[in-house]
Amino acid sequence: MLDEIGRRRTFAIIAHPDAGKTTLTEKLLLFGGAIQMAGAVKARGEQRRARSDWMKVERERGISVTASVMTFEYLGRTFNLLDTPGHEDFSEDTYRTLTAVDSAVMVIDGAKGIEAQTLKLFEVCRLRDVPIMTFINKMDREARDPFELIGEIEEALALDVTPASWPIGMGRDFLGCYDLLGDRLLLMDRSQGDVVDAGIECRGLDDPRLDTLLPAPALARLREEVEMARGLMPAFDLDSYRAGHLTPVFFGSAINNFGVRELLQGLASHAPPPRPQPACGRLVVPTEERVSGFVFKVQANMDPNHRDRIAFLRLCSGHFRRGVKLRHSRSGKLLAVNNAVLFMARDRELAEDAWPGDIIGIPNHGSLRIGDTLVEGNEELRYTGVPSFAPELLQRVRLDDPMRVKHLRKALDHFAEEGASQVFKPLSGADWVVGVVGALQFEVLAARIEAEYGLSARFEPAAVDAARWVECDDPLVLKRMVDANRSAFAEDHDGALVFLARNAWHLNRTQEDFPAVRFLKTREQNRKVEVLGL
Ligand code: G4P
Repeated sequence: MLDEIGRRRTFAIIAHPDAGKTTLTEKLLLFGGAIQMAGAVKARGEQRRARSDWMKVERERGISVTASVMTFEYLGRTFNLLDTPGHEDFSEDTYRTLTAVDSAVMVIDGAKGIEAQTLKLFEVCRLRDVPIMTFINKMDREARDPFELIGEIEEALALDVTPASWPIGMGRDFLGCYDLLGDRLLLMDRSQGDVVDAGIECRGLDDPRLDTLLPAPALARLREEVEMARGLMPAFDLDSYRAGHLTPVFFGSAINNFGVRELLQGLASHAPPPRPQPACGRLVVPTEERVSGFVFKVQANMDPNHRDRIAFLRLCSGHFRRGVKLRHSRSGKLLAVNNAVLFMARDRELAEDAWPGDIIGIPNHGSLRIGDTLVEGNEELRYTGVPSFAPELLQRVRLDDPMRVKHLRKALDHFAEEGASQVFKPLSGADWVVGVVGALQFEVLAARIEAEYGLSARFEPAAVDAARWVECDDPLVLKRMVDANRSAFAEDHDGALVFLARNAWHLNRTQEDFPAVRFLKTREQNRKVEVLGL
């Protein structure tokens, strides 16, 4: 068991669109032998981007299920790469996937540095101190100065940075990298395509062989820059990386397959195996005998005729065997898991065996929700740390036929359970406010409301800029706040109280007026909500 757990590396890639996440994913899968052909993942990335109408979305859902988890083997490790949807399909799922990984790779475009979406995703990683390796991509193009890029990471993310490799030139003059952790010279041969040589072992940067391998000016510059970098930045420290305080930076060019192997080696040697997971009242250690896990994603209505769903369960402890009976913590019911699937790169296979760190897909008819815990035995275990994230975009929803309001409520509740969107019912006023984190989600929702529920609904501006869950130890303060401004409060689909701010000023002002109240950007899923009698 220790062996199986120790082999696993469950991670995700975080990036701003176009930084090279799809390209890097594909190269990682090529290394892992999970795919044979370059271009396979890329094609999917493009399909995703190109999709515009709902039918296409529907057709591709089958694909997006298999692309949600990609498992491959390399250097004796089993890697589970979890997809963080990034283009049109950027949604709360993207954030929540990061609650199911043990580490992440941050891909940065060398010409652009840290971009908006990278920053958002990084902040979610920080909530759980997820360790991060950084891959600065596209060094074969004109990129920014490495010191400047590293400085930006340090400053924007408040992280220590240590170079794992150092680039030799850039753009057309990019010759390769010096591997600072393994003391090897890695030369990029643009003519080799997907073939990568192992690099040339060196005895440090003073190795005289380097003089024969690199042009003198490039070598002089490399030596000077590395000396400076070593003076300015901390050395690699495993504990600091694993605690989420230090990120090793690899430079490379995913499209040229350059630097990818070093990144993968870095993950294999340093990224943490499955970590203990927080549950109510205790930490669950992966080596515990009893199988347990939590649902971090639900993909619903795969087949419109059957309302079937796949719940993605991150295993946290025990040895999963097909047919094992797991208790569903929320309902107390027992579930014999006979038909769970494992995701092997592009195929699905029946899960006979699985270990902590693995992701299994459990088909169900709506009984499994995001945040649910499944556990073998009778313990009342409940995993924490699978939150809802405050939506960044909010709109009101209007029905063309007001008589069908109950149906709309059902549809919106389903989407909220699935985690595709959030729904807020104002304490006064009739129209529900729907919140999402990715702009195109409204279009997708409108199309799904029509296709799956036969309703015609429109989304309209809501004059709401931000939503925050509110909590206070003193219920009277909460009541006073709500009474003062009733139209700005709503309930989410679990009945939790939410403040809907008109703008940043409104939010700040209310926070200042009620300092005892906590305004939260995340909320634990399925937590019991106290009835406040508001
Ligand atoms: P994403 O998933 O993060 O959105 O990025 P993706 O891999 O799709 O890459 C975005 C663009 O950047 C693609 O170009 C891709 O070929 C290019 N790219 C990725 N890695 C590198 C690299 O190391 N060097 C260079 N020069 N380019 C890279 P595109 O024009 O959108 O697509 P395509 O026409 O190349 O297929």
